[in-house]
Amino acid sequence: MPSMPAARILPSHRRYGSGGAVLSNLVAMTVRADRPLFAALPDLRVPWMPLAHVPTPVEPCTAIAGWLGAGERVHMKRDDLASPLYGGNKVRRFEFLLADAKARGARRLVTVGGLASTQAMATALFGRELGFPVRVVLFDQPLTRFAQDAVRTLVTAGADVIYGGGIPQTAFRTLRLLERGDYVIFPGAASPLANLGYVDAMLELGEQVARSEVPRPDLVVVPTGSSGTLAGLALGAAFLGWPTEIVGVRITAAYACNRLTVATVVHRTDRFISQRSRHWRKQRPPRWRIDGSALGEGYGYPTHEARDGAAQVMELTGAAGEITYSGKALAALRRIVRAHPEKQVLLWNTLSTPRPPIVTNARIPHELAWMYERETVA
Ligand SMILES: Cc1ncc(COP(=O)(O)O)c(C=O)c1O
Repeated sequence: MPSMPAARILPSHRRYGSGGAVLSNLVAMTVRADRPLFAALPDLRVPWMPLAHVPTPVEPCTAIAGWLGAGERVHMKRDDLASPLYGGNKVRRFEFLLADAKARGARRLVTVGGLASTQAMATALFGRELGFPVRVVLFDQPLTRFAQDAVRTLVTAGADVIYGGGIPQTAFRTLRLLERGDYVIFPGAASPLANLGYVDAMLELGEQVARSEVPRPDLVVVPTGSSGTLAGLALGAAFLGWPTEIVGVRITAAYACNRLTVATVVHRTDRFISQRSRHWRKQRPPRWRIDGSALGEGYGYPTHEARDGAAQVMELTGAAGEITYSGKALAALRRIVRAHPEKQVLLWNTLSTPRPPIVTNARIPHELAWMYERETVA
């Protein structure tokens, strides 16, 4: 896929080049006022920059209605199209995090993720667009073709790619490598500041429902790891006063994602906002639950139904799915839709449909050469 011109990739703030800083700031302020979060909480002062192409469309899941066993009552929110550079559920969070990094004068972005990490790819791509050097430290997960492409993407984007091995070794190596001026984006990027992106996303859906573009969902289904996406969506629905329940399809081990960890993320995000805006009033408690039915052996391990789900992602979006997030989310979605024949269900699409260019003979770091010599599991 050819790379897109910067003006289309980063809305507004880079359009005017380095000489247009004042104009660019003015435009950013205007765009900010358009976002439902800032319209609802006008006193909210947090770092932010426009990166996402929003509102993302909402559409019926017609292409897989037969497979789901449902008619028009299942829709999807296309955050896979949140940016032509790289979509998915990091873009809205990065509007806050990367603005924070800029405001703090960060010299480099450092992030940590699995071999197939979408967060690492998003950091490498958006970091490059914003002029940050990027370092990624990768930990082991089952080897997939998606992971092979992910590492090629990182190298093509010019990131400094380091292999950490197991999770404890990766954490240790990352700490040892940190330097002054590094801005660290932890796995999942689920800080309260970042989670504002998904509060805004739910308010955006609120506007789409108000315009009758889509029925108000009874259930929102979203793949869940760090739970930042789920937390933002649940708080946004509570602010709107919706009884909607957010179902987080757990894609990682229960010790890393459970009622306690999610409640903590929801609570910390709620407190963060209430400390910064006197307009923040939830009309009802947030409603969410965790569905662990699709996980299988663990994070990144294929299951029969995740492979099937990944194939359905292709039907739905035209881009290949993968077995860690999107395949498992679709497998659980199918069960949920069948278990609740009377409910309006909305799938929140979190895996980018745009796939960034990769150089197939990109210089893979020596310590990751094995990834291209071994058999993949999916
Ligand atoms: C495609 C995709 N979906 C869902 C998730 C999980 O989101 P969260 O960490 O906010 O729970 C991720 C996390 O990286 C992801 O890459």
